[in-house]
Amino acid sequence: AIDPQFNENREKVGEENGVAVWGPVDEPEELGIRGTHVAVDFDLCIADGACLEDCPVDVFEWVETPGHPESEEKAEPTNEAQCIDCMLCVDVCPVDAIDVDAG
Ligand code: SF4
Ligand code: F3S
Repeated sequence: AIDPQFNENREKVGEENGVAVWGPVDEPEELGIRGTHVAVDFDLCIADGACLEDCPVDVFEWVETPGHPESEEKAEPTNEAQCIDCMLCVDVCPVDAIDVDAG
């Protein structure tokens, strides 16, 4: 599962599509965690898609990740500022790749 303390245990190494990238990153096999309030561990995401389908405010967008061992697309929390902390995405992700800091 995603490390809920990622913002202490990892370093922010950049930004993509307006969301933070938390390393380590070694493309294309290792992509790190994307987002801060809504965070997706790209190295765990298997492109299940439940988060995109269930989020009531459309926080997530698909991004292409060719060459990643788990899946060739990922759910990026591009609109994390819209999040209403309903926690649906956290509950439905089959690989526990999402952390929402509702505190
Ligand atoms: Fe969307 Fe709810 Fe997840 Fe926020 S907690 S990203 S509103 S599903
Ligand atoms: Fe990925 Fe989990 Fe969403 S596997 S696409 S973060 S439901």
